[in-house]
Amino acid sequence: MSQSNDWIKSLIEESQKAKEFSYCPYSQLRVGSALLTEDEKIFTGCNIENACFYLGLCAERTAINKAVSDGYTKFKAIAVSSDLEEQVIPPCGACRQVIREFGDIPVFMTRMDGSYTRMTVEELLPLSWNAEYLKKNE
Ligand code: THU
Repeated sequence: MSQSNDWIKSLIEESQKAKEFSYCPYSQLRVGSALLTEDEKIFTGCNIENACFYLGLCAERTAINKAVSDGYTKFKAIAVSSDLEEQVIPPCGACRQVIREFGDIPVFMTRMDGSYTRMTVEELLPLSWNAEYLKKNE
């Protein structure tokens, strides 16, 4: 991996570390995420499940909620990690929409060994619903 990609490696490592606190008694799938802000701060998050299944929160949205509630809304990239060895972990539809709210950033979807697939939010969620549609006609 070239030196210019060091930040990607670091972001992925942070997302892997974030799995440590994953609360996933129902799926047993630990997921971690790391979100890089425009001024180079990293917010991490894990998935947080609930006995009322649909109230569970994905790792990506945990990281985004932490960042936004601390005053950060401009992001450069997000990484997602899990314990899946063969497959990269793609963000669910809800997370794609929530990531998209804050811009068309690259999403690094990783395997357990740190290898990854990079896709932009626009590639993952084409023709997405966004604030432009809520502007009043003048
Ligand atoms: N999950 C995430 O945290 N992020 C994703 O990108 C996909 C799925 C979580 C939600 C749930 O806790 C578990 O994975 C199984 O679906």
